[in-house]
Amino acid sequence: MTAKNNFQDFARWFQKETGMDLSHYNNSQVLRRLRVVMGKYGYATLEQLRQEAEANPGLIQECLTKLTINVSEFFRDRQHWDQLAGKVSLLAEGRPLLRVWSVGCSHGQEVYSLVYTVAKQLPMNKFHVWASDVDADALAAAKAGIYQHDSLEGLAGEQQRVMFRRQGAVFQIRERIRNQVTFMLHDILRDHLPGDFDLVLCRNVMIHFSSQAKQVVVQRLAESLTLGGLLFVGAAEQIFNPEELGLATEDVYFYRKTGVRT
Ligand SMILES: C[S@@+](CC[C@H](N)C(=O)[O-])C[C@H]1O[C@@H](n2cnc3c(N)ncnc32)[C@H](O)[C@@H]1O
Repeated sequence: MTAKNNFQDFARWFQKETGMDLSHYNNSQVLRRLRVVMGKYGYATLEQLRQEAEANPGLIQECLTKLTINVSEFFRDRQHWDQLAGKVSLLAEGRPLLRVWSVGCSHGQEVYSLVYTVAKQLPMNKFHVWASDVDADALAAAKAGIYQHDSLEGLAGEQQRVMFRRQGAVFQIRERIRNQVTFMLHDILRDHLPGDFDLVLCRNVMIHFSSQAKQVVVQRLAESLTLGGLLFVGAAEQIFNPEELGLATEDVYFYRKTGVRT
């Protein structure tokens, strides 16, 4: 049996177990990450990993966590957040409630940075954030909003005070900030789009996808936006054909929905 067959068998089984379709992800990245798990336990083949994981659901979750890559931080690429801050008031004009979606929110750092940024410009009752991820464990951590002290490094004192409450050795996002967010288990490659949003963040998620899957996701994100709505992507996720999707480039990492396809 070839290495390709081995991988395809593993991918089929993994999709059955977790719902995650590995064919949409960057192939060499997926293999590299699975090899890390195999190396950790001394498994020589993907087949052996599958057999062991069949008897041990914790190992399936470990593979999922490794593959979904949950690395995040508060205000990642800070200058882009400053740009976003400058766009919020105008975006909210004429909209009774600004609807915001963070796709691939990981452990929540992005979504709470988002609430802080938008709340600087709008009253809390004028916006709501929906946050989704394919990884249930990451989502649970995001919802709890509990972080170690080193996660707060680099945040201004005012940001730390407004966002967090000290709980012994750890820091929890304040309740009124957590209450601004509704969390959803959602696969952007597969699941029904949850609605019309005025601002969508999908940052450092598509970078792990194959170029074909990235194209599908960008199209879905464009569909999820209201007219005039904004899509905010990660530093390595520029969109090269925005006009074909009814989007116009506005600054490098922001795309506005015009609805006009050229
Ligand atoms: C590197 S983190 C990015 C976190 C955050 N957006 C940021 O930029 O800091 C990527 C996240 O995308 C999520 N993800 C991967 N595939 C996904 C999918 N198909 N649907 C939704 N989320 C996905 C992962 O679980 C992970 O939490």
